[in-house]
Amino acid sequence: MTRNSSFYLLLSLLTSSVLLVSAANFNQDVSVTWGDGRGKILDNGQLLTLTLDKFSGSGFQSNNEYLFGKIDMNIKLVPGNSAGTVTTYYLRSQGTTWDEVDFEFLGNLSGDPYTVHTNVFCGGKGDREQQFRLWFDPTEDFHTYSVLWNPRSIILSVDGTPIREFKNLESVGLPFPNRQPMRVYSSIWNADSWATRGGLIKTDWSKAPFTASYRDYVAEACVWSSGRSSCSDSRSSWWSEELDVAGQQKLGWVQKNYMIYDYCTDTKRFPQGLPKECTVA
Ligand SMILES: *[C@@H]1O[C@H](CO)[C@@H](O)[C@H](O)[C@H]1NC(C)=O
Repeated sequence: MTRNSSFYLLLSLLTSSVLLVSAANFNQDVSVTWGDGRGKILDNGQLLTLTLDKFSGSGFQSNNEYLFGKIDMNIKLVPGNSAGTVTTYYLRSQGTTWDEVDFEFLGNLSGDPYTVHTNVFCGGKGDREQQFRLWFDPTEDFHTYSVLWNPRSIILSVDGTPIREFKNLESVGLPFPNRQPMRVYSSIWNADSWATRGGLIKTDWSKAPFTASYRDYVAEACVWSSGRSSCSDSRSSWWSEELDVAGQQKLGWVQKNYMIYDYCTDTKRFPQGLPKECTVA
């Protein structure tokens, strides 16, 4: 190898590692906002952990606000007896008429499955819950939880498999989050008064602290700053993404086999009729 080519090899190695690091570095991308030391950024920004103990939970938020994007996070949930713990991962705008897209992971006794609770808020109104089981143990390893948010729809995915689609139906007068920038938030807290079948099972504090871990945060997104959004070049890939036939099939598979609650079929809850988005074809 000539001196020149080894120089270029070194240079390209250096730049690619710099790019990799800057693509996902919690030190730059997020701030731990509460928990008095219970939220930690480790391994030079490559790993983040949130813990919950008897006294407090913890949380972080993205430094950027986004107006549309494809946002991925790898999460490893609290292992063992996690009953009563709730790990949240969500996008949310500010104010009293906020928009929000939620993943919430409700812990369980050892060996019993987590519940993945999802919701979409538009203008401060939610009531659009869907809940799922997962097809793997989310505490054994990291898995990718994604929100694709573009002008046509919001798609929640797990390891690339869509579990929920919320379409833009503004054409028939329904609200869709597309005016307010949102930040990414995550937290771990105790909710044993409601998360465990109405408080039936209490958190076992002898197992504390409870820890959820995060890696590989990637936001291909339009960053909101001083009243305007600027999108990176990668925008084209997700900006117009919709579920293709294969995606629809995967979504159908999840909804058939892993959905345990759907507000769209809860006629008892909506005696005056199901929400309109549930009945629009
Ligand atoms: C915990 O597991 C039990 C047994 O499978 C299940 O009925 C319950 O809904 C689970 N609780 C949560 C919070 O997921």
